Amino acid sequence: MEIKKAVIPAAGWGTRFLPATKAQPKEMLPLIDKPAIQYIVEEVRDSGLKDLLLITGKTKRPIEDHFDRSVELEDFLREKNNNSMLDLVEDIAKLMDIYYVRQKAQLGLGHAVYCARSFINDEPFGVLLSDDIILGDPPCLQQMIDAYHKTGTAVVAVMEVKDEEVHKYGIVFPAGDSNRNLFPVSSLVEKPFREKAPSNLAVIGRYILLPEIFDILEDLPPGRGGEIQLTDALNILAQQGKVHAYRFTGQRYDIGDKLGFLEATVDIALSRPDIAESFLRYLSSKVQRGA
Ligand code: UTP
Repeated sequence: MEIKKAVIPAAGWGTRFLPATKAQPKEMLPLIDKPAIQYIVEEVRDSGLKDLLLITGKTKRPIEDHFDRSVELEDFLREKNNNSMLDLVEDIAKLMDIYYVRQKAQLGLGHAVYCARSFINDEPFGVLLSDDIILGDPPCLQQMIDAYHKTGTAVVAVMEVKDEEVHKYGIVFPAGDSNRNLFPVSSLVEKPFREKAPSNLAVIGRYILLPEIFDILEDLPPGRGGEIQLTDALNILAQQGKVHAYRFTGQRYDIGDKLGFLEATVDIALSRPDIAESFLRYLSSKVQRGA
């Protein structure tokens, strides 16, 4: 079945970025001059999907405003003949059809995904977490869709992480040859202790899910951290042979983490023709001074 819809859960508090996230959504923090969430929406658009649902919350209104038209700003830019900025602003509102639903209590990622039930109905769909920026061509979501068409099951994006980092992720237990790009998973565990981790293969924020996930999420008790965990729902499906893991290609940044956010900012700056040269000169002068 064709995948036409995607869901971006964006209702979390973003506590790792306080105080910046006290009064603004972490999804609106910019990587140079583009809010993080726009990179994710562009990935959905570039993967050929038509409809997008954002799961938001009370404090997330700026996200809706960002993807809406801003007629006053457009008029102002038009009057000033600032056509490049006018195009930039108008294009954001045309990116794709975006729908919104509010998660009324932040009960966890599994609960956030459950809020998409009526929108999804009975189709397979993509889920993207805006903490994970993945740069590359083809877009990671597109790769995941291709993987889904090979397996017909749920697919989770995975990458190898260091032993000391497994406690930060959902970790998969491979059922087949995990050196391949696409392999079956027999179970998943959310944020295991290092000595109990079944592998070093961490689930990154891209998923293809089937509507059967909603029946599982509906009755799922809270798991790790007292939250309703998507990993726990996927674990039930994995035990039925209904989950594959996919090793994606592309450069991934964990921008929910301060260091990851900084790395993404630096790499994007170095890839931007308008600022790369001056930024590189600045970095070289810092290195020469031993700073
Ligand atoms: P995180 O666990 O990273 O939570 O959620 P967070 O609140 O965004 O950030 P920290 O850890 O407090 O700094 C992973 C993803 O799931 C979404 C978040 O928005 C993020 O994209 N999420 C999480 C929800 O939409 N609702 C929830 O109840 C929990």
